[in-house]
Amino acid sequence: MKLVNTKEMFKDAIKGNYAVGAFNFSNMEMCQGIVKAADLEGKDIILAVSAGAVRYAGVNYIVKMVEAAAMESKVKLALHLDHGDSVEICKDCIDAGFTSVMYDGSHLPFDENVRLTKEVVEYAHARDISVEAELGILAGIEDDIEHEETVYTNPQDAIRFVELTNCDSLAIAIGTSHGANKFSGEAKLRFDILEDIRKELPEYPIVLHGTSSIDPEDVKLINQYGGDIKQASGVSQELIRKAIDLNVCKLNFATDIKLAMTAGVREYLYNNPSETDPRVYVGYGTELVVKRVRTILKNIN
Ligand code: G3H
Ligand code: ZN
Repeated sequence: MKLVNTKEMFKDAIKGNYAVGAFNFSNMEMCQGIVKAADLEGKDIILAVSAGAVRYAGVNYIVKMVEAAAMESKVKLALHLDHGDSVEICKDCIDAGFTSVMYDGSHLPFDENVRLTKEVVEYAHARDISVEAELGILAGIEDDIEHEETVYTNPQDAIRFVELTNCDSLAIAIGTSHGANKFSGEAKLRFDILEDIRKELPEYPIVLHGTSSIDPEDVKLINQYGGDIKQASGVSQELIRKAIDLNVCKLNFATDIKLAMTAGVREYLYNNPSETDPRVYVGYGTELVVKRVRTILKNIN
């Protein structure tokens, strides 16, 4: 099947009251594991690559890998730049074959974020590529992006931002965070922000970042086999369900994929210390990725 942009995926998701999963990868096996899970579940997905992962693997390697995945897959796949940190990287990814980009100007003053997002939107829409933007700031660490505190999205600003930029979806901050430890106390999200946005933009695609579930089984395996993850907490299925009921139609999972792969590789190498073939131990990690993504897809669809 061909690579697609996210426009129809989001329309269908809002109509069907489910969310599309966006899964981050940075190498071939993570990509293969994610696509295998999507095929087994029969769910369309977004393959997401952070700006750091684009720099790591190379934009052409990413595009060709995902085009190969699409040739063999039965479901629809979108190739999405996650947290694009400049207008240039967004344009480069579009030119190379990405079907969706996120321009992340969330750390900039409102007007500057609007101006740069608009530039990406104009370039992308002329090529039938969808654009995600972000308003509000998530706490936590993802690649080169690190923030201590959440800056919750102001609903009125979000509505104005969408009108001014014409972006296809908007990521907002309601209390989720990047990384393996999402909540220090009780897990709480500001659903009132979603409710306020929905009143004004009833059918508009809203995105949540930082929604990994942080499966205790993966954390346990990592720690049992030599790893050291001290605190871990993720977003529960209940919170995810509530967000979907309030028009969230894209959920982002990066940490869950990294944990599953790391757990598998650690477990395999610990139990088979003489194994030196990456196909064997990375392949074992890939199977854990498949399992984790299948579970996520069952929960969000
Ligand atoms: O952009 C990707 C996601 O926001 C990653 O969030 O740390 O919960 O996987 P996560
Ligand atoms: Zn993110």
